[in-house]
Amino acid sequence: MDDYTFQPLRNKYFHFYNLKLAIKECQIKLFDCKMNETKLIELPKMVDPRGNLSFIQSGSQVPFTIERTYWIYDVPGGEMRGGHAFYEMQEFIVALSGSFDVVLDDGVSKNIISLNRSYRGVYIPKMIWRSLENFSTNSLALVLSDQPYNVNDYIRDYDLYLKLKSENQ
Ligand code: TYD
Repeated sequence: MDDYTFQPLRNKYFHFYNLKLAIKECQIKLFDCKMNETKLIELPKMVDPRGNLSFIQSGSQVPFTIERTYWIYDVPGGEMRGGHAFYEMQEFIVALSGSFDVVLDDGVSKNIISLNRSYRGVYIPKMIWRSLENFSTNSLALVLSDQPYNVNDYIRDYDLYLKLKSENQ
């Protein structure tokens, strides 16, 4: 085969190899979020004798565009929320009032972040297992998400979560 005939074949293999690499990269990207990618983020606090003010703007205080907001309140003593991970969704959680613990787990290590200030929140990337626990009376958890509600994005089976993570270590 002369060089001229060989060239397209070589390109074909090269593209195939690149495609395989790209798919592998995507798979790794899907599952590779680790504990060190969670972040405790300090929000701006405009101190004012009339009352303090904090704010969150898409892409500034949180590293995503805010698509959805929900809040958790009236949590009876001893109850917990969450207990799942998301395939794709990212969230940012603030204790607007009272306090609670955000228990984080990346399949290898666990971390507990106690939220009790309305000017501080925790950023949770995709594929991190989380639960909200130890709610104080009258606590209010504000949650920002980068995506609309999607029941199919939830991983609620911890064994499945660990399996997915270990397959992509
Ligand atoms: P869910 O996220 O499952 O709460 P938790 O993880 O604490 O168990 O939400 C509880 C219910 O609320 C569920 O039936 C779906 C509904 N829901 C929405 O319809 N939209 C939303 O944005 C959220 C967060 C929940």
